[in-house]
Amino acid sequence: MRFIGCKTLLLDNIKQVVDEKAPDAETFCDIFSGTSVVARFFKQWYEVYSNDILYFSYVLQKATIEVDAMPDFFGLRERGITDPIAYFNDMPSEEMELLPQERRFFQNTYAPTGNRMYLNDENALRIDYARNTVEDWKQAGIVTEKEYFYLVACIVEGIPFVSNTSGTYGAFHKNWERRSFKKYEVYRLPVLSNGKHNQCFHMDGAALLKQISGDVLYIDPPYNGRQYLPNYHVLETAAKYDYPEVRGITAQRPYENNKSDFCMKSKVAAAFDELIANARFKHIILSYSTDGLMTVEQIEMIMKKYGKPETFQIYWIPYRRYKSREQGKKEELKEMLVYVEKQVE
Ligand SMILES: C[S@@+](CC[C@H](N)C(=O)[O-])C[C@H]1O[C@@H](n2cnc3c(N)ncnc32)[C@H](O)[C@@H]1O
Repeated sequence: MRFIGCKTLLLDNIKQVVDEKAPDAETFCDIFSGTSVVARFFKQWYEVYSNDILYFSYVLQKATIEVDAMPDFFGLRERGITDPIAYFNDMPSEEMELLPQERRFFQNTYAPTGNRMYLNDENALRIDYARNTVEDWKQAGIVTEKEYFYLVACIVEGIPFVSNTSGTYGAFHKNWERRSFKKYEVYRLPVLSNGKHNQCFHMDGAALLKQISGDVLYIDPPYNGRQYLPNYHVLETAAKYDYPEVRGITAQRPYENNKSDFCMKSKVAAAFDELIANARFKHIILSYSTDGLMTVEQIEMIMKKYGKPETFQIYWIPYRRYKSREQGKKEELKEMLVYVEKQVE
């Protein structure tokens, strides 16, 4: 999934640090999981915990981390639906047109019917149809909790493929982009089985760290002022399907209570301090950028304060070159992985 700060390209770098520093580790925690690609990758070898304050991230995690075998959809099979993903993707338009107007939140809000252009009308209705049907199946007890999360995640994962945006949902394009003409399809998420007791959470990272402990803690916080929820509000609403009261031309859902301290210059250092202080993990690995709100010096100071100073190490990953705002001056931005070992009882 297209997502700010997604670490698909850094998976091998993170793995190298884990292999070097924590060869005996058994548990891996991805505390700011986003798309959950890091947690999914490490699920191959470890018992995994994952977490995020975004609900749609939690749904993606539940479907791929906590769900440990492809659900069998027994209740649906009994009703003749052997493959719910194909069931939705093959559904004829005439059938979807039967969905009552008041159950069409996506079409009424994010599509031309609602004077917006995040999705075309037909795709928005496809999402409404699938989402309402899954909710009905849950209410009727036809799908288990795991099946429910799996299906909602597959619905959410399909949306970026047809969204008329440049990747985030802070705004939509004024003209239709090529991808928005494609037919929306529920995306069949792969499920990896590791036979372990993997767990997902939906809460503030620092609060969660008071409850859990383990071997490797991977921390990938936001590093600049862009809050995640306003940039992914459409996916959040697809996951919750809670008919929020949206505002303005961009149809933002309220997010005052979901702001992250990691996106605020005045709060980020204290938030990071609390996180590291609370951590009961022996190996701590932080992903950050030299472009971030925290300076490298602040990070070093905080990680050495709670960890063993002699174990502190920075792994630099050349990332991208671009022209700095100061005219003519070229600046190299770097991603880094920062490691410290912590004494845990
Ligand atoms: C850089 S992204 C993580 C990207 C992720 N590693 C990936 O590969 O997709 C940062 C994530 O931190 C989450 N976040 C921000 N503040 C948080 C907090 N206090 N507790 C938990 N999650 C938080 C955001 O919702 C966002 O998904």
